[in-house]
Amino acid sequence: MTEKTYHIMTFGCQMNVHDSQWLGRALTARGFMEAPLEEAQVVVVNTCSVREKPEQKVMSALGRIRQVTAGNPDVLVGVAGCVAQQLGEAFFTKESQVRLVAGSDGISGAPAAIERLLEEPGLKLSLLDFTSHYAEREAGPETAEGPSDPVAYINIMQGCDNFCAYCIVPFTRGRQKSRSSTAILEECRAVLDKGAREISLLGQNVNAFGQDKSGDGTSFAQLLRQIAALPGLERLRYVTPHPKDMGPEDIAAFAELPQLCPRLHLPLQAGSDAVLKSMRRRYDSTTFLQLVEALRAARPDIALSTDLIVGFPGETEDDFQATLDMMRACAFMSSFSFIYSDRPGARAALFPDKIPAEVAQDRLMRLQALQDELGARWLAGRLDGQAQSTLLLEGPSPKTSEGQEPSWQGRDPYGVPVHVPLPAGIDHTGRLVQVTVTEAKKHSLMAVRAGEPW
Ligand code: SAH
Ligand code: SF4
Ligand code: F3S
Repeated sequence: MTEKTYHIMTFGCQMNVHDSQWLGRALTARGFMEAPLEEAQVVVVNTCSVREKPEQKVMSALGRIRQVTAGNPDVLVGVAGCVAQQLGEAFFTKESQVRLVAGSDGISGAPAAIERLLEEPGLKLSLLDFTSHYAEREAGPETAEGPSDPVAYINIMQGCDNFCAYCIVPFTRGRQKSRSSTAILEECRAVLDKGAREISLLGQNVNAFGQDKSGDGTSFAQLLRQIAALPGLERLRYVTPHPKDMGPEDIAAFAELPQLCPRLHLPLQAGSDAVLKSMRRRYDSTTFLQLVEALRAARPDIALSTDLIVGFPGETEDDFQATLDMMRACAFMSSFSFIYSDRPGARAALFPDKIPAEVAQDRLMRLQALQDELGARWLAGRLDGQAQSTLLLEGPSPKTSEGQEPSWQGRDPYGVPVHVPLPAGIDHTGRLVQVTVTEAKKHSLMAVRAGEPW
């Protein structure tokens, strides 16, 4: 086993992925090297508890770690993220290899805690307190090797105050805490300096940015404008907005800021007004449709994707049909869809009229069949009239055909993966290229480069 090596396993949303990447950079700055599980001295499992059986998933990951490391007590195991926040020190008794638990805010202290734990083998540490303000984190090292990722993810807030009836996030991530706009802009400038062309802003309810006691008076729309004005930025995206908080200025930003991509992930959750009310989403189908109309007026080509839950307590077949109707009316290009599951502490866990698993499963299948149709229609639409597109190239694509130029994968402004053959022998990562879309696959597009000499 090499000295000072780490391995991180990540479950959950983009915010968790981003936290894990930060932890990796912070450990690298402290002289650690990333390693396969078999060779790692420090193993961190970054966990998610948003849907069913999260605890079992973590326990099976811990079981795998025990197996691979043969229970070696010198291997330091940490559990971070949302399940760690929920179950806390219970992990110390569940699995003796675990010596660190770090919750959502506590993760910022994990690198220092790991160093201390390596020096004091008898010690166990828990970092479970919520901070009252957004906890700024130490910056990672400037990596010398290779060009930096063309797409950068930047946290703008932590936590959520919405308490949707089904959701555990406000309990695991704590109350909403906005990051200061100065710190956000500074990080944006730093990633642009390192070569990023696209920035994706992250938060559980981004349009409510600034509307909490950590806010510095900057609204979400103002933040978008400030970031869009930074030199070097080609594309700006954000996730996740809440429909009830999408104000006129947020909508207008789609008309005013060319950098803001014509793609929005706008979680609908359900189409029935009764279900939306019981979910405590605080919008109804009419206001959602008005919002979609306003977005399309601001940016006629905007592509919408969504999150949907089936089998929420009390959902009737008619309620479910209302979800399908809304999917058609909004013409979602894609969606993430889930069967409702009880989460401890969330209000809906106490609701009566739970939907039998087979009914929920059947609804999910029907919903996904409709989504496949809508998605295919949307992708096929990309071939008529608007076949020209700009790609931001992210790396080589596995889809190279024999005897052809190597293919590269990029994303178009709608976030769709596009594969395009490009001249060999050049690293195209981070370039913006004009292409003509030639073919729609199931979830991606094929293209050829348009015009310009290479
Ligand atoms: N803040 C975001 C994401 C929340 S979690 C938002 O408000 O949309 C991501 C998705 O998981 C949710 O949009 C919801 O569709 C789904 N989800 C959350 N809790 C769930 C539960 N108890 N059962 C099933 N799906 C759930
Ligand atoms: Fe959960 Fe609702 Fe907050 Fe999203 S807005 S994180 S669904 S409570
Ligand atoms: Fe999961 Fe926590 Fe994200 S519960 S979805 S990792 S906020």
